[in-house]
Amino acid sequence: MQSMIKFLLVLAIGAVTTNAQAVDGVSNSHAQSDVEDAATLGIDAFTLNVGNPSADYTYNTLSQLFETASSSSFKLFFSMDLAQQPNLSQFVNVVNTYLGHPAYYRSGANNRPFLSTFNANNHTPSEFSNFKSQLSQQVYFVPDFDDSPNYYSNSPSWFSTWNSVIDGAFS
Ligand SMILES: *[C@@H]1O[C@H](CO)[C@@H](O)[C@H](O)[C@H]1NC(C)=O
Repeated sequence: MQSMIKFLLVLAIGAVTTNAQAVDGVSNSHAQSDVEDAATLGIDAFTLNVGNPSADYTYNTLSQLFETASSSSFKLFFSMDLAQQPNLSQFVNVVNTYLGHPAYYRSGANNRPFLSTFNANNHTPSEFSNFKSQLSQQVYFVPDFDDSPNYYSNSPSWFSTWNSVIDGAFS
């Protein structure tokens, strides 16, 4: 199936917090080989789990990954880890920094930048709507909200709650 996109879940950004300098060094050298290895395996895109959206090492690692991906057809997109950082506002800057990047994965009928999450962490549809309105582009929003009420037990109810703010569901 030619149009199928294979995602490798999940390259965690900022999971290691011991020493920013060391993390930068490790991340930078690993970034290129991670992307090259994935491309070799036939994977088209990485989900980047971002749990510490304002840290310097997050920006440093993302810069390296996007630069590496730019030299191939490989794509990257964010999963905002709301389990690690529940404050949605904290993600606005990092998301806006990369939404328009040529290596940022786009999808859907309008070819919008693809954005996901890990968890909803008790945020409401209107809070996500407000968050989305602060982004520099309209996104194709496919969150993983499996911690939200009715996600597993009552899909019709779940979709009617979230329908206005999501383009699909990730799990
Ligand atoms: C969330 O982050 C924003 C932006 O940094 C900040 O202004 C706000 O106080 C934070 N909210 C909470 C509840 O920490």
